[in-house]
Amino acid sequence: MNKHQTTQKFSFKNLPVHIILIGMCIIWLVPTIGLLVTSFRPVQDINSSGWWTIFAKPKGAAEYQTYCASCHGDDGTALPEADLSDPNLVAQYKRSFTLLPSLNSEINGQPHMGSISVPDETQTANIIAYMKRMSGIDSSSKITLDNYIDAFTGYRGNNTYRADCASGNQSLDLYCDIRDLMNPRGMGRAFVNSLLVAIPSTIFPIFIAAFAAYAFSWMDFKGRQWLFALLVGLQVVPLQMTLIPISRLYAQLGLNGTFQGIWLFHTGFGLPYAIYLLRNFMGSLPKEVFESAYIDGASHWTAFRKLAMPLSVPALASLTIFQFLWIWNDLLVALVFLGGEHPVLTYQIGNMVTSLGAGWQMLTAAAFISMALPMLVFLLLQKYFVRGMLAGSVKG
Ligand code: HEC
Repeated sequence: MNKHQTTQKFSFKNLPVHIILIGMCIIWLVPTIGLLVTSFRPVQDINSSGWWTIFAKPKGAAEYQTYCASCHGDDGTALPEADLSDPNLVAQYKRSFTLLPSLNSEINGQPHMGSISVPDETQTANIIAYMKRMSGIDSSSKITLDNYIDAFTGYRGNNTYRADCASGNQSLDLYCDIRDLMNPRGMGRAFVNSLLVAIPSTIFPIFIAAFAAYAFSWMDFKGRQWLFALLVGLQVVPLQMTLIPISRLYAQLGLNGTFQGIWLFHTGFGLPYAIYLLRNFMGSLPKEVFESAYIDGASHWTAFRKLAMPLSVPALASLTIFQFLWIWNDLLVALVFLGGEHPVLTYQIGNMVTSLGAGWQMLTAAAFISMALPMLVFLLLQKYFVRGMLAGSVKG
């Protein structure tokens, strides 16, 4: 490969490619940002306006700027005798008909507004709204954590969790403290359950597969090729086909609805691919390294621990990511083998909305809660992610 190719300088020849890539990023990013912004908006706002209005100026700001700012200043404090950011003063002007007379009256023998025309009634109402915001009387924010709190606690009432707790509504069987997070209806509990499912279901198969892959690559035994071929063949068994036999078996063993059962299932289904990928990787490690180790008297156990494992870190890491993400996003297996007993995130998200579509503002927060960990994993292990995809395509 020559130097020119490896450095990949920007040139106009790739311009179409760049434009397409940027376009794809925008198509992906804009709805995601929209969802993120929506998840922080109060439900009344979500129902009445689009998420992009959050970037718009507050109501009345434009009118205030046109009519009042020249004398009272941008923040309302330019005239200390009439400080428009003083809540006591603003409280006197509840409606436009309370403010308009003051604007029409004369101050020190001059018209209040000088040569500027007096705003009409709706404009005045908007200006009052802006004055209330400026003075802090109206603190209702455009941004709230309520959707996240409701999603984490799984709360579905007429009002938000915070409002109903503040009003002391006792019929709701709430603790109104940290204990509500462990409520089986909520995403908080489901998040913990998802972790309890995903972490062991990732570690077990990869751990076992590492041993098997070593054996397939560096140990000579009869029928090795046949066994490996059988394993590769096992990958084509569709998961759905095994649901009935395994759930009947689990019923006899009492494993239905338990974490052990789902760990076992994911381990079984993760193994063939994990062994296949790791074997391909370990098999391609330099032979001489292992041979010289054996000649020096290293046992298989030592070679596995000191050579094969450290050298396979890239493959192990990418496998970990893929297995983890797949289990994190799995609904089918969790639904069949755990169900409502230990609800996981994917299951709980489906429960968030009623069949009538109410409560969908919580879904925006719920979606981000369930996205957070995969995104973190992806960002932290990006380097292995790309290598993992290559390991699958180039060597496999
Ligand atoms: C031409 C300059 C000017 C403009 C424009 C102006 N004001 Fe004033 N405003 C004044 C002056 C001067 C005072 C009197 C300050 C004092 O009490 O000495 C005042 C006083 C006030 C007071 C207190 C009145 C009272 O009776 O206590 C309010 C409220 C007020 N302005 C609101 C507004 C609003 C709202 C606008 C925009 C729609 C506005 N003003 C535009 C100059 C202006």
